[in-house]
Amino acid sequence: MSFPDTRMRRLRRTDTLRAMVRETRVGKDDLILPLFVVEGAGVREPVASMPGVSRLSVDQLVVEAKEVRDLGIPAVILFGIPDQKDARGSGADAEDGIVQRAARAVRDQVPELIVITDVCLCEYTDHGHCGLLDGEHVMNDPSVGRLVETAVSHARAGAQIVAPSDMMDGRVAAIRQGLDENGFEDVAILAYAAKFASAYYGPFRDAADSTPAFGDRRAYQMDPPNRREALREMRLDLAEGADMLMVKPALAYLDVLADARREFDVPLAAYHVSGEYAMIHAAAERGWIDGERAMEEALVSIKRAGADLILTYAAKDVARRIG
Ligand code: PBG
Ligand code: ZN
Repeated sequence: MSFPDTRMRRLRRTDTLRAMVRETRVGKDDLILPLFVVEGAGVREPVASMPGVSRLSVDQLVVEAKEVRDLGIPAVILFGIPDQKDARGSGADAEDGIVQRAARAVRDQVPELIVITDVCLCEYTDHGHCGLLDGEHVMNDPSVGRLVETAVSHARAGAQIVAPSDMMDGRVAAIRQGLDENGFEDVAILAYAAKFASAYYGPFRDAADSTPAFGDRRAYQMDPPNRREALREMRLDLAEGADMLMVKPALAYLDVLADARREFDVPLAAYHVSGEYAMIHAAAERGWIDGERAMEEALVSIKRAGADLILTYAAKDVARRIG
């Protein structure tokens, strides 16, 4: 059948009809809010390039976590920003490190919330790279050892999910083994599996103070043109024991996400990253686009492409709108 028997507009006539035939929805349960934790007390330090996002001290993080819970958002992912950095990223696995104290506080005071921790060294190293250096080379295997120690210390602090974002080879298997050996067989791994060397991480690096002191991350993060390689990365992380896979960034990599949806049965997450968030806010501030609608359109496209979960700085705004 074709026109005039078929008229596609029949089901677009009213809000109710459109809602009835809507294929994709972003729900509160799909959202994960990233949060940045700093030293101190009473600190709420706005991040200039990310309107609505602040770096929080642990006490303020707890206040925020309660608000997040009350909005019906199930999970947060914590990024720690220490005062002291060194070559090996000692703060990353410190028993009383910033993210460890943050995880403990949230687990203790907001037990309904799922705590995910970002496992990487770049926020803790003085050179800002995601692993240990030999000269200017980021070494793989020694870095994996540090990442295991970091993940185990996060689990000890109460993280229910650890999310390695470093892109070292073999780290998922090593982290799985490290968790199991320490009695954390129930702690899940959300692998940043297809993480690309992207220009969209700029605002995050301001917020997390993790810009590399030299060079860039292209020797460990993926090359943006590579779609098939992303499937290999994801397959490897699954084989190593990842419980969930992540694609990052989101919008520029929806093809990768759609491939992953077709290929894998595990829960898929997509990270709508800092630059994607900042671009929408920047254009909206200039009055060039409707920021709320642009954000909704971006997030629903991520779900439509196949994501189950979305890491987004807009989680609170979206949850408020859903009501
Ligand atoms: C750390 C990490 C980064 C992001 C999440 N974890 C930055 C990077 O790889 O340089 C980016 C998140 C964002 O831009 O919102 N490895
Ligand atoms: Zn890193």
